Amino acid sequence: MTKGLDRVRLASLHDKIVSVEQALDLIPDGAVLGASGFGGAGDAKAVPLALAAQAKVKNITFATGASLGNQIDGKLGAAKVISRRLPYQADPGLRKQINNGEVMYTDQHLSGMADKMRHKMLPAPQVVVISAVAITEDGLIIPTNSCGNSAQFAEMADHVIVEIDLTSNPILEGSHDIYVPASRPKRGPVPLTEVQDRIGKIGIQVDPAKISAIVMNEVPDTTFDMADADEETLAIAKHLVNFFEKEVAEGRLPNNLGPLQSGVGSIANAVFAGFEHSNFKDLVMYSEVLQDCTFKLIDSGKMIFASGCSMTLSQSTNEYVMANFEKYKDKIVMRPQDVSNNPEIIRRLGIIAINTALEFDIYGNVNSTHVTGTKMMNGIGGSGDFARNSMLSIFVTKSIAKAGAISSVVPMVSHHDHTEHDVDILVTEQGLADLRGLAPRERARAIIDNCAHPDYRDALNDYYDRAAQQGGHTPHILTEALSWHARLVAEGHMLKQEAVSA
Ligand code: COA
Repeated sequence: MTKGLDRVRLASLHDKIVSVEQALDLIPDGAVLGASGFGGAGDAKAVPLALAAQAKVKNITFATGASLGNQIDGKLGAAKVISRRLPYQADPGLRKQINNGEVMYTDQHLSGMADKMRHKMLPAPQVVVISAVAITEDGLIIPTNSCGNSAQFAEMADHVIVEIDLTSNPILEGSHDIYVPASRPKRGPVPLTEVQDRIGKIGIQVDPAKISAIVMNEVPDTTFDMADADEETLAIAKHLVNFFEKEVAEGRLPNNLGPLQSGVGSIANAVFAGFEHSNFKDLVMYSEVLQDCTFKLIDSGKMIFASGCSMTLSQSTNEYVMANFEKYKDKIVMRPQDVSNNPEIIRRLGIIAINTALEFDIYGNVNSTHVTGTKMMNGIGGSGDFARNSMLSIFVTKSIAKAGAISSVVPMVSHHDHTEHDVDILVTEQGLADLRGLAPRERARAIIDNCAHPDYRDALNDYYDRAAQQGGHTPHILTEALSWHARLVAEGHMLKQEAVSA
């Protein structure tokens, strides 16, 4: 019997099981190819990896949920298979090609890309590859560790290729809630009013006739090891917990804080781990990536429910969670990203959004994506979906990077992802600036005093004082505003040499 045949429970689909090479024939040069995958979880792997290894087709526009693991992006880029990538990536190899201008990158809010495709604002995928635990008797495709854009892609594509992921645990069936908002102009409200609500099906409904190929995959998803919490991230967590305690005491937040969203990366993971030692109870999460910290908070009894789009875990947490999934199954749900990141729902639920900045300026504008304003790091991801629509928008970062050569607090950000209008609270290991209700001149004081590293405070105060003398609602010295970045590029340090050696 073909390995994995029992996972294709709709018997009429058995004759669609083909080799990966046969499935590749469905993907022509210049196609828009959609694939499952979000935060390196639930990725389609066999087909994209074979596409890269064969390197026969070219000029592919490659769309996924978000970033992928297994170096898929790097391999597709190196093989010159893809010429455009959207909506998000985090691969060092592809990052280089994007920054060299070899691959065009359409860095998009995660909630909106598939919807734009559906409404013909962006080219829609002709072919989609979806990683699945199984196909049910009634033809539902059960995703693996993420939902991403797969349901929307399947609706749009002419050909659906299903990768049965033999490494995925069948116990995942039942942990997804697949709901696709109706197309405009007939769209009603998304009927989700509580984090725990289930509003859709356990799998992706697709006309079985559109399933053109089924392949078996034996490559596991990549796991991601997060840096351990360090002195700085622990301090950031402490400032945040103190702030939340005050908000609860003063009646602005409920005892369980309300639904929380966490950004990606080691800082966000460490900050969330900080809740473990707090007094908060019955925490709930409405986020996109469920990282290790989510499961730790569930284990410690602090968190009672978490809704996300994917589970992106370290090796050891993944092994533990999968071996004990029964105990988590009624405490988590995975949703498509146009539901997990849906602005309407984020606003309705009153989410506290905690995302990571690369840098922010003295007025509270945030850059999450571009190093020195030019080089793409990863992309905006879901941070804009959450920051703009949240009840409380928080950005965290360490106050310095690269052993102090870079201040994360700068006179003017070198790229804007989140404007001052979408930022309520800024936190570094130095402290927390509460910007709610403050005008730009007040914001500058709060940010420099509370968040800047002591090595940079004088220089920031000097810049602000001189700018303020020139006037303006948001005072700047335009010829100087980006000089810190220019100096970093030219001299390797943001401060003037005399200030560094002083
Ligand atoms: N200028 C240049 N580089 C900087 C920097 C700055 N101001 N601040 C940090 N960095 C560097 C760090 O030195 C580190 O470099 P390394 O990889 O060479 O060690 C790298 O950026 C990552 O920083 P780190 O401190 O490890 O943070 P992180 O892993 O938490 O990632 C972001 C931070 C901003 C890159 C990441 O959160 C991101 O891509 N965010 C955008 C998308 C997003 O928010 N998604 C979630 C929405 S739900």
